[in-house]
Parts: sequence; structure tokens; C-alpha cells
Amino acid sequence: MSEPLVLGIESTCDETGFALVRGRELLADVTATSMDAHERFGGIIPEIASRAHLESFLPTLEAALGAAGVELADVDAIAVAAGPGLIGPLTVGTAGAKALAVATGKPIYGVNHVIGHVAVDELVNGPFPERFIALVVSGGHSSLLSVTDIATGVRELGSTLDDAAGEAFDKVGRLLGLPYPGGPHIDRLARIGNPEAIAFPRGLKNVKDPERYRYDFSFSGLKTAVARYVESLEARGEPLPVEDIAASFSEAVNDVLTRKALDAAAHHGADTLVIGGGFSANSRLRELAAERAEEYGITVRIPPIRYCTDNGAMIAALGSACLRAGLAPSPLDFGNDSSMDLSRAIA
Ligand code: KG4
Ligand code: ZN
Repeated sequence: MSEPLVLGIESTCDETGFALVRGRELLADVTATSMDAHERFGGIIPEIASRAHLESFLPTLEAALGAAGVELADVDAIAVAAGPGLIGPLTVGTAGAKALAVATGKPIYGVNHVIGHVAVDELVNGPFPERFIALVVSGGHSSLLSVTDIATGVRELGSTLDDAAGEAFDKVGRLLGLPYPGGPHIDRLARIGNPEAIAFPRGLKNVKDPERYRYDFSFSGLKTAVARYVESLEARGEPLPVEDIAASFSEAVNDVLTRKALDAAAHHGADTLVIGGGFSANSRLRELAAERAEEYGITVRIPPIRYCTDNGAMIAALGSACLRAGLAPSPLDFGNDSSMDLSRAIA
């Protein structure tokens, strides 16, 4: 008998994503985005994103079903992101998903978006090992996870105490006068600049209880250090060495991310590190992770960029893993959770 067909629905931020997954096989993945409408505001406007999700919901669903060559009636289960994310956008997705579940009589799983960023890796890089460490880095989250089973065995080792990695890049992008989102622009400039030009702080280095923060991140002090540096040059009327600032800032973020992730893997006896989330598009993160993992003898798995940014495939992949683990569906009255706990894969 073939494995169950899962429809995945993602609407936590500005992407409306629909995907179909059978077991660990991705059949179709279609995404619509409202990013163009947010660019001029320099950040995501939840009201605008919510309206865009409402308009894109049915056309994107139709496109995904068409691309997979299946009908809605063929679907065995529906998975939808229930959090973490923006409440308005989440509500459009979960309300739409519940309507589909009621209309078709199929079970529904309200799944954790952050865990989905890890789960999607199985669709491209094959089944997970028995134990691994995951680093999820995006505009909204930066977390280190210890994983034994993606549906039932996720433990959060640490997370950011303030800004997420992508958020820090976007804020520094604004300081440097770059378009929103600044992440990819800083990445591009950093490749030309000198990462050792400016000694930016690494964060949580001089805390009283370093063991307590061993797997946590903090990027707000770093962001302030960049702001001070920029202000002091501007006050003296000197030109900004934008490439060197980008490179030195990028190095500070990626040095900490990779060092802590590999320390966690070594400390927990895991030989695999999975990296996911929109920030894993960052070229220096990929380079540094590969370089340092080799020293540790650890395998790094990172999905292609289109599966790192928000998409429906990650939600379908986690729904599929929940079915494999024999988890009961979510009750139909499950709510959205803007800060959904990482110890739970489903609502
Ligand atoms: O996962 P994602 O698509 O959305 C969230 O759930 O947040 O991640 C988007 C974030 C943004 O902050 C964006 O600036 C950042 O990922 N990003 C990058 C790069 N590409 C995207 N940051 C640094 N370097 C990149 N190449
Ligand atoms: Zn995300």
C-alpha cells in the first residue's frame, strides 16, 4: 500500500505555500508571496499579508493540486502551520485548512512551523539519522534543537535572547541604507569586504554563568555596536566602508552560530547537523559550517534555498512525519500560537 498523501499549508508570514507530500516524496510545492507589497514599508505588515493570504489561498491550492496531478479528495491528511508566526496570517491559513478538513472529512494536523524548517530536509536529503542537532535560523527564529524523532523527540537546547539572525541582518541592512530585507544584500556585500576589518563583539561571551547560555544567542549588542560604528564615522564625515562593515558583522553572527551548533553536536554525540530557515541561504553560514564541520567530523545537511525560506513542503513534511509516528490529529478547535513551544510538533 502506498504511503499517505499529505497536503501542507503555510501562512505564518508573507508566503502562502501549498505542497503535496507522499511519505517522504515531494509531489508539488507552490508558493505565492506578498513581499513586494511590504518592501516599501521596510518590514512585514500583518494586515497586508493576511489579505494576500486570503486572496492566494484557493489559487495556490489549485496550482499545487494541478502540479501534483491529484484531487483534493485524494488527500489523506491536511497539515497547516499553527505557529509560531503572525496571528492574522496564521488565522487565514488555519481557518482555510479547517474548512477544507470539514468539507472533505480528512484529519487535520496543526503543526509547528519552526520544526517544519527542519522536517523539510528529509524530502531532499533522505531519512534522518537516529539523533542529530538542528539549527533553525530565519527572520523570526534562531534556535538550536536536539532531535531524536522529528515528530515526537525535539528538545530546544537554546535560542536567541533578543533578535533572530535574519532580523539582525535586516536591521543592520537598514542602518547601512540597504533595501528591505537587508539579509541577502549584506550577504552579497560581505563577500567583497574584509571580515577582520572591524572587531565586532560575539555576544554572551562575558556573562556570569556561561554554561547557562551555552546554546543561546544574542545579536542585539552586536547590532548596537554596528550602529555606534556607523554613527562615529558619520559624525566625522568619513565615508562608510560598507563592504567591510557587512563582512565583519556577518562574520560575528556566523562565527557564533556555527561554533555553538557544532559544539552542541559534539557534546550530544550527534554526527549530523541539519540547518534550516531563511537565513540558511547565507553564503558565509554555509561555507563556515562546512569548513568547521569537517574539523569535527560532522555531516552538515542544508536543503536547497527554496526549501529554506517559508514554503508548504516543510509543513507537509512534518505532517507526514506525524502520521508516521502515529500521532492523533489536532482537535478541530485548535488555536493559533504566535510563540508555539518547540517541544510540541502539533497543536
Ligand atoms: O524563513 P524566512 O523566509 O522567513 C521567516 O520565517 O523569518 O527567513 C527570512 C529571513 C530574512 O530576515 C532575510 O533577510 C533572511 O532570512 N535572509 C538572509 C539571506 N537570505 C534570506 N540573511 C542573510 N543572508 C542571506 N543570503
Ligand atoms: Zn520560517
